[in-house]
Amino acid sequence: MKKIVSALLILALALSLCMVASAEETKTVGIAMPTRSLERWNRDGEYLAEQFEAAGYGVELVYSDNDITQQNNDIGNLIAVPVDLLIVAAIDGESLTQTLADAKDAGIPVIAYDRLIMNTDAISYYVSFDNYQVGVLQGQFVIDTLGLDVNDTSKTYNIEFTAGDPADNNAGFFFGGAYDTLKPFIDAGILNIPSGKTSFEQVATPAWSTDTALENMQNTLASFYSDGTVLDVALCSNDSTALGVAQAISSDYAGSNQPLVTGQDGDIANLQNIVDGKQTMTVYKNVSDEAGVTLELGKAILAGETPAEELLESLSAEAAYDTSSYDNGTGIIPSYLLVPFVITKDSLQTLVDTGLYAWDGDYLVSTAATT
Ligand code: BGC
Repeated sequence: MKKIVSALLILALALSLCMVASAEETKTVGIAMPTRSLERWNRDGEYLAEQFEAAGYGVELVYSDNDITQQNNDIGNLIAVPVDLLIVAAIDGESLTQTLADAKDAGIPVIAYDRLIMNTDAISYYVSFDNYQVGVLQGQFVIDTLGLDVNDTSKTYNIEFTAGDPADNNAGFFFGGAYDTLKPFIDAGILNIPSGKTSFEQVATPAWSTDTALENMQNTLASFYSDGTVLDVALCSNDSTALGVAQAISSDYAGSNQPLVTGQDGDIANLQNIVDGKQTMTVYKNVSDEAGVTLELGKAILAGETPAEELLESLSAEAAYDTSSYDNGTGIIPSYLLVPFVITKDSLQTLVDTGLYAWDGDYLVSTAATT
């Protein structure tokens, strides 16, 4: 009997030691997303939280309502928890320098998620898609769909650009990729821009706002197309802006043709517009995979490793390790870049095949819980 009691005591002691050890080992990840008002970040936040939790980490997820001061405060609170790792999608890439210096002082590593964070040496890594390639895919789609040939100037087309938020480092890459791809055709006079708005600054959309994109397009249509000028292409950098532009075309465009409208993300409302013929394509970015790459990177960092190219072997999604493209003002930030691809009405089933969307009649719905 005595023996059994002492064996039980030893077992209980061992168990409680185990519990203390595992409680100590549970590391917490702080995830700072910009806003719930732009659809994709709801999916990003959910996939990141789900995947880190499933891997045994504690998760603190915050959204900052597209408000720069709030994001600084929210990240400050995560540092105070303290979390063991920060994953940050910045609202304004230029505005987190001081807060992230505090993270660095507290020894908390930071991953810049999707958007590069500028002017801080507190960032260890950047996880995103090949942002320039997003724009290239949009530009190339226009070339292919209109069947453009730089040596054939017999047929010309009108195009207008809508770009993203100047505070988002990605926005210039998207616009640059599209504009550079189309430039030979613009230079040859095959693609004309009746508004004359050819620079990023002229077509940028603060906060990626659908309403602002709508108003800007309404103004462009009123000023340059009310005389019957035909609009052939509305090159929009992403889906939130494409939503406003498509709405402006529906309500304010006098022409009888449906202009080609580009986008990016695969937001539900835009997938619906693609089914309805109001948007022609979107550059799809699988943000569940982006979360998965961030998880593998986060695991390695939390294990005290300094991952580099070899991390690619442990990833289930296709990605490139890039050590030249993203300089945040303090030097090059090593980057893991996933691969975006084009979705049109004819290829919507590809999204269903990922398991992240399902058909609901003629339209797609997200299978993620919060969207
Ligand atoms: C993301 C895009 C998104 C945009 C607005 C960018 O930083 O890369 O996918 O459309 O923000 O949310």
